[in-house]
Amino acid sequence: MKFIIENFGCQMNDHDMDKMGSVLIDHGHVAGKDVDEADAVIVNTCCIREKAEQKFYSLMGRLQHLRRKKGTILGVTGCIAEQEKENIFERLPFIDFALGPSNIHRVAEALENAAGGGRTSAFGDNTCSPSLLIRPHNTRRGIKGYVTIMKGCNNFCSYCVVPYVRGREESRRSEDVLAEVREMAGRGIVEVTLLGQNVNSYNNGNEDLSFPELLSGIDAIPGISRLRFVTSHPKDISPELIACFGTLGTLCESIHLPFQSGSDRILSLMNRGYTSSGYLHKVEALKEQCPGIAFTADCIVGFPGEQDSDFEATMRLMETVRFDGVFSFIYSARRFTTAANLPGRVPPAIAHERLSRFQKRQRAITLDSNRAMEGSRVEVLVEGQSKNSPDELSGRTRSGKIVNFRGNPGLVYKLVEVDIIKGYANSLRGELRDTPGR
Ligand code: 5AD
Ligand code: SF4
Repeated sequence: MKFIIENFGCQMNDHDMDKMGSVLIDHGHVAGKDVDEADAVIVNTCCIREKAEQKFYSLMGRLQHLRRKKGTILGVTGCIAEQEKENIFERLPFIDFALGPSNIHRVAEALENAAGGGRTSAFGDNTCSPSLLIRPHNTRRGIKGYVTIMKGCNNFCSYCVVPYVRGREESRRSEDVLAEVREMAGRGIVEVTLLGQNVNSYNNGNEDLSFPELLSGIDAIPGISRLRFVTSHPKDISPELIACFGTLGTLCESIHLPFQSGSDRILSLMNRGYTSSGYLHKVEALKEQCPGIAFTADCIVGFPGEQDSDFEATMRLMETVRFDGVFSFIYSARRFTTAANLPGRVPPAIAHERLSRFQKRQRAITLDSNRAMEGSRVEVLVEGQSKNSPDELSGRTRSGKIVNFRGNPGLVYKLVEVDIIKGYANSLRGELRDTPGR
């Protein structure tokens, strides 16, 4: 059958989509390009914020027409499926299957069952979580590889639905992770990103390797030149992890460290387990170990009870760190979460005004930081050619910034040295350093 996977949400979801695609291909199905000509459409969902959920339901409205017209098989996977469980068949009676994030390994079985007219649903946490173990084929990203090292979250931040829909933390055995990275390196992967809701808690309480030990193990694998990880919780950034930034050559000079708010009162209501000064101490320690390290983060505005003074504290924290980029969101109440019952809802107009002030200032800081790179020489991993011009190449610095420059398409997937000549809002312009033979 020809299938399409529509995807919402985070890097974890991108990776889950790759995993499902690989399972389906292994079962003899083919990836299609166009929803209209597909035999099956699988929608991989995210319910972390209200907006993603709204987008999902409007997409399902459109897919319902396709179902009526052509009998297309429709499946829903991921967090919304888990959140709704069997109720999803009442809300969307025209779908054929629903699989929670821990059950995506059953996608081929669900699809084949649907072809025979059957309906499949699977939710809940499997004790050995086979979904964690699927190794996706290296189909989409050439030299970049993604490895899930843990799933779930035990933190219960008061606004967050993840612990309810993705379950408790569960780590993969380090020997399996290391074997997978070795195998990736053998296939020519040079950049590895470790994925998990809270990678710093990897193997917390287990006998196996700690997260910093795992990083050292990967650093030693020949062929891997860049190592990244997402996402980290500030409270779990240990001195050992900070030290890795000074000692491991492959560990890229960037870290995604969500702060969520700069106000200690709001951080406590969020159940984050750190204060703004605790966060800033970790930032300082990281900068000390790794001068020039780039920080990115997530932040929420309009959390229940957020006053102007709390928001000003968020603005101050952002000014102090000078992030390279921040994903900022307006708070939305999520099912199951304790914050949904907190008093002091912030009026939407005020929340929007705060968000746009925050984003405007952050855009200016990002631009400043990109301009500050003008005149520097950086290593770029070339990811591909520009869509508009074949002799334009595009890649990323170790700090994660996009660089566009002129160069021979033969350099795609190679590491090159580039001089930065201009910094823009979202990217850098570079010139390939003259190297004999290039
Ligand atoms: N409302 C708004 N933003 C949220 N996030 C998580 N839950 C919510 C919510 N209920 C944001 C956090 C998190 C990112 C992935 O999504 O900033 O780090
Ligand atoms: Fe959600 Fe907090 Fe866990 Fe992140 S650490 S997934 S925000 S509960």
